Amino acid sequence: MESKKPILEMVGISKSFPGVKALQDVHIKAYGGKVLALLGENGAGKSTLMKIVSGVYKKDEGKIIVDGDEIEIHGIKHAESLGITIIHQELSVLPNLTVAQNIFLGNEKFSKGTRKINKVWMKERSKYFLDQIGCNINPNTLVKDINLGDMQMIEIAKALTKNSSVIIMDEPTTALTDVETQKLFQVIRKLKEKGIAIIYISHRMDEIFQICDSITVLRDGKYIGSVETKDVTKDDLITMMVGRKLEEQFPYKEVEKENVLLKVENLSMKDKVKNVSFEIRSGEILGVSGLMGAGRTELAKTIFGDYKKDSGEIYVDGEKVNINSPKDAIKYGICYLSEDRKQEGLILNMSVAQNITLPNLISYENKMKRIDKKSEKKEVEEYIKRLSIKTPNQEQLVKNLSGGNQQKVILAKWLMRSPKVLIVDEPTKGIDVGAKKEIYEVLNKLKSMGKAVIMISSDMAEILGVSDRVMVMHEGKVTGELKREEATQESIMKYAIGV
Ligand SMILES: Nc1ncnc2c1ncn2[C@@H]1O[C@H](COP(=O)(O)OP(=O)(O)OP(=O)(O)O)[C@@H](O)[C@H]1O
Ligand SMILES: [Mg+2]
Repeated sequence: MESKKPILEMVGISKSFPGVKALQDVHIKAYGGKVLALLGENGAGKSTLMKIVSGVYKKDEGKIIVDGDEIEIHGIKHAESLGITIIHQELSVLPNLTVAQNIFLGNEKFSKGTRKINKVWMKERSKYFLDQIGCNINPNTLVKDINLGDMQMIEIAKALTKNSSVIIMDEPTTALTDVETQKLFQVIRKLKEKGIAIIYISHRMDEIFQICDSITVLRDGKYIGSVETKDVTKDDLITMMVGRKLEEQFPYKEVEKENVLLKVENLSMKDKVKNVSFEIRSGEILGVSGLMGAGRTELAKTIFGDYKKDSGEIYVDGEKVNINSPKDAIKYGICYLSEDRKQEGLILNMSVAQNITLPNLISYENKMKRIDKKSEKKEVEEYIKRLSIKTPNQEQLVKNLSGGNQQKVILAKWLMRSPKVLIVDEPTKGIDVGAKKEIYEVLNKLKSMGKAVIMISSDMAEILGVSDRVMVMHEGKVTGELKREEATQESIMKYAIGV
């Protein structure tokens, strides 16, 4: 379905927060039946722009034109009544309610003449909307019992109930498996057929090329340009995003490997981790590959003492250790950056500096009996620089940082503990291309400092580009190990599917 006039147009949009010019004269056009990608580095202003059009924030300047009419958007409900719905970076479903209750949350239907919620009607309507996107979850299921992919579907069904003509998806796939992502794309194609305009934010370049018709690029809050997907290459887009050519996406350097820092022997945990043995030396990055559900995160959490092992031994620096909790693991110099960043306990109402230093206070205090504010401040500054955390200063509250920059704060927090063994789980999820490279540099730096890094990743290019060695898991077992020279997409996939 082709339409010539945009359903939604934003013209000359500017927005400032204290100390931050988040958007400066930005424009976009979204057409019915088309997917528009919004692309840009962490902190470029993507979410802010979308929060403006969906009524979360007020713009300072500029015009918003919906269906040809200029409109002042007063709030979320107003935006929704205009047909504009946003599915935020952080999903907002309520786990203890049913699918149907979530879909009609805030728009409950009451039985005629009563204050009683009409459950039958809501269930039927939910089913109707779920059917429209080819999703067959039971509307009576509690949301906590369904997977993340289906939660996305609920958010989309919810958008459909509001008769949306523009649906905004802010990084919808960061927590989805490949299969779930493909399912989402099918749904997006269905939405396109209905003539809905989709605005799609993602850091995953492959997805942009699979699903988006056109792309608007922002950099540092400024409008860089809009292009048709068919006219550009990945490299073109990266250049637009970061303002320069990224020479080498995966900087790799081999360093001298020394003693074995971590040795895991016959580790088992329930039916999730089965008899896993491996070792890693100082100066080494071990990539851990596998499909979703292969047990990689469970393995990491068992080593870290988050899950109780059933059997097996762990040796650090040649000595057998007894790890019963994350606290023990940290004591032995093992740190784990979890894939579920929410659990990492960022304290949103505290500053960047406080968040970075928070878990370190204890060790600082013990060592020096008092916190040396000055050296701490300097160290925080260094991490902000090294990870290019985009913030006006270290006193900024973490809740005001963009999604990707919040993640960098977590990484900084762990790096400041200077662990011997660092386990990172999907370290670049939600992180832009430029910053990804910086994170790889940090991992390389750790390696050259004689640390060991275990990197769990579902990003094949990252596994191949960064690892010294790749270990592949399938259904809780290690099914293969490949040297850097031997590792290819094919060889890894073969082990990952367990043949
Ligand atoms: N409520 C706020 N208060 C202060 N600054 C803010 C606020 N919201 C966003 N910012 C700042 O505005 C800039 C743009 O942030 P935004 O969240 O739009 O980035 P983004 O492009 O979505 O990045 P990411 O890819 O990391 O999600 C950032 O510098 C961010 O710190
Ligand atoms: Mg964002």
